[in-house]
Amino acid sequence: MIEATYVMIKPNIAKLEASLKDPIVKDIISRYNACGLDVIAMKKARLTLEQAEVHYDHLKDEDFFEELTNFMADEVIEMIVIGENAVEVVRKINGPTNVLKARKESPNSIRALYGDPNFACANAIHASDSKENAEIEINRFFPELHFKQPKFLNIPEAKRSLVKHKYLANKSM
Ligand code: CMP
Repeated sequence: MIEATYVMIKPNIAKLEASLKDPIVKDIISRYNACGLDVIAMKKARLTLEQAEVHYDHLKDEDFFEELTNFMADEVIEMIVIGENAVEVVRKINGPTNVLKARKESPNSIRALYGDPNFACANAIHASDSKENAEIEINRFFPELHFKQPKFLNIPEAKRSLVKHKYLANKSM
């Protein structure tokens, strides 16, 4: 199934990358491309504390909620990634949430390579955990797109409906 997912490069990496052409961002994109996925939108942004609190609202009862939202209220790089089973494939490429686990079980994953093993919040990257949440997160952070997951079974048509959202490509990537 062709679908879109939302990816956020976290501040521990986003702050190192002055431009969207810098090496870690390029490496992350090339890892998605190598698995048949395309990045159709990308931007640098600074999350407000309120945006971070809304994004992680499902974790509001965790004792690390305040630490996580304070860490995330900073520079991030946001992307929309599309392709066959994009939600699941991106999460596999990103690796396990815990960086030490990622290094052990998936040493070539993005979190193993770029996450900070000493700070659980700084695991380099976030990606949506379901197609439904991907639609919510894309609309949260790219509201101007009024995004909808494609309903088509026909792959070229589904891909066209997603690629029509492609923007920023010539401006900032
Ligand atoms: P993410 O995929 O963005 O989804 C929720 C985040 O919570 C997760 O990545 C981690 O960065 C963070 N997280 C999970 N466990 C902890 C923890 N024990 N302490 C701090 N942050 C955590």
